[in-house]
Amino acid sequence: MINIAIDGPAGAGKSTVAKAVAKKFGFIYVDTGALYRSISVNALKHCIETTDTEKVIAMLPETNVELKYIDGTQRVFLNGEDVSEEIRLPEASMAASNVSAIPAVREFLLDLQRDMAKNHNVVMDGRDIGTVILPDAQYKFFLTASAEVRADRRYKELTEKGIEVDYNALLEEIVQRDYNDSHRETAPLRQAEDAILIDSSNLTLEESIEAIANKIKV
Ligand code: DC
Repeated sequence: MINIAIDGPAGAGKSTVAKAVAKKFGFIYVDTGALYRSISVNALKHCIETTDTEKVIAMLPETNVELKYIDGTQRVFLNGEDVSEEIRLPEASMAASNVSAIPAVREFLLDLQRDMAKNHNVVMDGRDIGTVILPDAQYKFFLTASAEVRADRRYKELTEKGIEVDYNALLEEIVQRDYNDSHRETAPLRQAEDAILIDSSNLTLEESIEAIANKIKV
């Protein structure tokens, strides 16, 4: 199987780029952030603070997360319920970052991710795919952009949808989440030594997709 890992901070365009690359090569796109988000949604549903490590761990035996592909699109199921939309709610973002710092949560989601990669050609995006989940992936990329550019893109995306947001609040959330994700002890956000760095600050979406696709020979 061919495995392509794309890691990087929140808002660097990983999911859009990974999706396009997967489509181009006919691979399955695996969004691993959705897994952490669904664990956080389960905690929120049970009124468990996502910073309460013990309670989150106690919840895991009754947590079932599955990925399904419907018309080629990833859907995530939490205890049999499709939560693909719910996991995108703003409160799920920081909550996902919190639960993702818990080693038992990472362990809980490990086999699911490795099995996907063992059985399919995948483009998998996340934070630790090239470093921990798929250290032997044939292709590894680290896609990043400055925090300002990422906040700017998010601001445009939301305002275009008619959602009013404060730019500084967005920037602050991005900086805070980067800090959280790169300073946790287990599997922090980090570029793998053998990953190709792509800084998309001055690239269009098409250019980022090309930069990755051009390196892949299948
Ligand atoms: O990519 P995302 O914004 O959907 O991810 C949500 C959170 O999950 C993110 O703040 C960090 C965590 N995450 C992780 O720790 N490891 C991954 N492979 C993917 C996401």
